[in-house]
Amino acid sequence: MSHAEDHEGTRRDFLYYATAGAGAVTVGAAVWPLVNQMNPSADVQALSSIRVDISGVAEGTQLTVKWLGKPVFIRHRTADEIESANSVDISSLPDSNARNANLAADADASDANRALDGEEKWLVMMGVCTHLGCVPLGDGAGDFGGWFCPCHGSHYDAAGRIRRGPAPENLPVPVAAFDGETTIVLG
Ligand code: FES
Repeated sequence: MSHAEDHEGTRRDFLYYATAGAGAVTVGAAVWPLVNQMNPSADVQALSSIRVDISGVAEGTQLTVKWLGKPVFIRHRTADEIESANSVDISSLPDSNARNANLAADADASDANRALDGEEKWLVMMGVCTHLGCVPLGDGAGDFGGWFCPCHGSHYDAAGRIRRGPAPENLPVPVAAFDGETTIVLG
């Protein structure tokens, strides 16, 4: 293993433990500055594309990684989450646009257009509330089984679409693609 690969693996592990689970939110908030010290922002900014190993992300859990200085949520969704996301009438959504950088700008916010893979198991999106930029809580938080931003009360559903609250848009899906079955490339 090269030094660069070793460094990459160590950094990912660190981010995983710093942000895993709702119970670690307080710890995560305290740890982010340390992560910043370990990864100078100039260095982070230079990493326009990163590879994320998702082999350890069990169904019903999510991984948070830092990319271009911002958190990215990578969730392995359950069948119930996918079904719930598909049961929504798109025309009833506050934001009916997919907000998916991998699709045409006018793609609608169907669950298939939000998910990364054809089976809709994997959801990858920026962990930045579209209201004023807080990091929403995940793991089924909020009234719609997805994410909840406690800053001003924005509720996102299991596809990361805004359902209630002041946030104007769905959580954006960044440029992302699978490279093999267990690696997601961001950027
Ligand atoms: S920043 Fe999320 S609701 Fe205001």
